[in-house]
Amino acid sequence: MPPTIQWVDGRIALVDQTALPDLHVVTVGTVEELIDAIRRLAVRGAPALGAAGALGVALAARTLAGYELAAAAAKLAEARPTAVNLAVGVRRALAAAGSGPEAVLAAAREMLAEDVAACHAIGRRGAALLGELLGPGPLRLHTHCNAGALACVDWGTALGVVRSLHEQGRVEYVVADETRPLLQGSRITAVELAELGVPHRVVVDGAGPSIIARGLVDAVVVGADRIAANGDVANKIGTYPLALAAARAGIPFVVAAPESTVDPGTPDGAAIEIEERAAEEVLVIGGTRFTPPDTAAWNPAFDVTSADLVTAIVTENRVWRPRG
Ligand code: MRU
Repeated sequence: MPPTIQWVDGRIALVDQTALPDLHVVTVGTVEELIDAIRRLAVRGAPALGAAGALGVALAARTLAGYELAAAAAKLAEARPTAVNLAVGVRRALAAAGSGPEAVLAAAREMLAEDVAACHAIGRRGAALLGELLGPGPLRLHTHCNAGALACVDWGTALGVVRSLHEQGRVEYVVADETRPLLQGSRITAVELAELGVPHRVVVDGAGPSIIARGLVDAVVVGADRIAANGDVANKIGTYPLALAAARAGIPFVVAAPESTVDPGTPDGAAIEIEERAAEEVLVIGGTRFTPPDTAAWNPAFDVTSADLVTAIVTENRVWRPRG
């Protein structure tokens, strides 16, 4: 798999995640094209969005400066509202604008390198935590959406934990929710797990909680799009039912995310803006509409899991137990 996102000859090259499991790399050369790629989820996942934000400002800084650059950066930061990393990446690159376009690109590249290092640290720390909580035996893990290399610059957060455990021969299998409506679990997580040789099964989202209740899972490990100051976690819609099921079953519910996903400016989950996406994503499957023509849909892209349901949040720097 080529890198999720990289700077190539003055453009941003992305694995087009709408095409997976088919592999297409697309390049974007303007902020408008990048915003379109973000909105249609060609690039997605909180850390990858942070990288996109930073590289997008580097793109803009080649032709814009001052107020015009700030305006383009603001538009980019608003392309998707829930994952805080996008705005963090934009801000970080923009802070270097006073020193010229090369400095902006250097800041963006530094951020990408830091993300890779953070994911490796999260993987190691998360694997060690699960060893402490559950012992050394092979683990049956459950994940939702995609928090792998394709959601980051490389390696992954929740799947980074899986990878660290797999390297130690400590993964029996991974249950991957298919993740309706856009199937990040089937189309992206399953592709990554297959490539890594990790035994896995995809289940429909509705099956996840009962699979946990049946005792088929030892721990749930997911990523996050924004973590509030009190430890409430926004992640892909369908995460919350897994957290409830994990609490009921008495198994760990672990969130793996870089510090850049923790937003001290958001006091709690109620303050997190949940992206509402087009109804067609729910109503139309593979080009066919399965509902009566006048049926409407709600399509919230994320949900909030309250801190009391979270066993631990693992970042590159710490294991945070928000419920004490
Ligand atoms: O809508 P998406 O695909 O961008 O949602 C992604 C998720 O919810 C991921 O779980 C989250 O960003 C963590 S990625 C390491």
